[in-house]
Amino acid sequence: MQIAIIGMGSMGPGMAARLARGGHAVRAFDVAPAAIERAQAMLPMIAGALDGLGIDEQGGTVTFHDSFAATVADAALVIENVPEKVEIKAQVYRDLDALIGADVLVATDTSGIPITKLQAHISAPGRFVGMHWSNPPHIIPMIEVIAGEHTAPATVTAIQNLIRGLDLLPVTLKRDVPGFVENRVLYALLRECVDLVEQGVIDAKDLDTCVTWGIGYKLSVIGPMRLLDMAGLDIYQSVASFLNAELCDRDDVSPMVTEATAQGRLGMKSGGGLFEYSPEDLARLPRERGTQLVAVRRVLEGKA
Ligand SMILES: NC(=O)c1ccc[n+]([C@@H]2O[C@H](COP(=O)([O-])OP(=O)(O)OC[C@H]3O[C@@H](n4cnc5c(N)ncnc54)[C@H](O)[C@@H]3O)[C@@H](O)[C@H]2O)c1
Repeated sequence: MQIAIIGMGSMGPGMAARLARGGHAVRAFDVAPAAIERAQAMLPMIAGALDGLGIDEQGGTVTFHDSFAATVADAALVIENVPEKVEIKAQVYRDLDALIGADVLVATDTSGIPITKLQAHISAPGRFVGMHWSNPPHIIPMIEVIAGEHTAPATVTAIQNLIRGLDLLPVTLKRDVPGFVENRVLYALLRECVDLVEQGVIDAKDLDTCVTWGIGYKLSVIGPMRLLDMAGLDIYQSVASFLNAELCDRDDVSPMVTEATAQGRLGMKSGGGLFEYSPEDLARLPRERGTQLVAVRRVLEGKA
């Protein structure tokens, strides 16, 4: 299939490479030439991870273009992957409308803007669907599929089939809710973790050890619903009956994060956030984490 990807930031290069590895002809575009350069430079590392996962080449390609029109010409599917702002995405859809036929599928990688809201900005909204990849997209095998109110069932089926054809795992929501499922679960977890650190119950490093080697390690083998069955619903019933009322339920963002953000302490991208990062850490961590995720996935798939 010919697939155009619009936006080559954090997510675009891995998505492009994964689709190409599955035999698709991928054309990639970004308004920023520097993003295209970074994406091109990342491809060898991404290919190494895909090799590590044992995913065979099937004759696909990734080509980079500096013209939006040339990128989407002849595409059967356009995947929009630009920043998480409705007005930026809406402009891309309006531009697309002038260039592609009404039969070309359009998917968005939004992390949680309702699909119904986004599809109001494109003609023939039946061909518009949410296709939410998880970061790093060339390694994480689950992709959420979300229909908006006006998405045609055939569009959902086409995206599910595309994902299955890549040997990946489509998870289809029954309803278009903000944040979809993955980010609702993640943000519930993050709110509680940030609150525990902020309230001085635990420090950031120990919080990570607790979650990574406690529930995180376990959850990669046993999902939350099966975990409930394993623990016993009666146990959950009795613990949740007093603990739910104790959990963080703030609607705003914690001051710890709001103040750090205001000071420009954004995390790895600024060299420091909740932790500090040396230039050596910044070079090492992405590679190390990629290697570890590949190794864990191979074990979980019974391939190592
Ligand atoms: N980063 C994540 O972990 C993650 C995970 C899943 C989904 N997403 C979603 O994927 C989308 C992209 O996220 P990201 O993290 O890759 O963002 P990013 O900011 O890293 O990259 C976005 C890219 O889009 C480019 N861009 C901006 N306007 C454009 C336009 N009009 N045409 C073409 N390119 C344009 C920018 O130059 C930039 O390179 C967002 O909707 C985000 O919510 C992100």
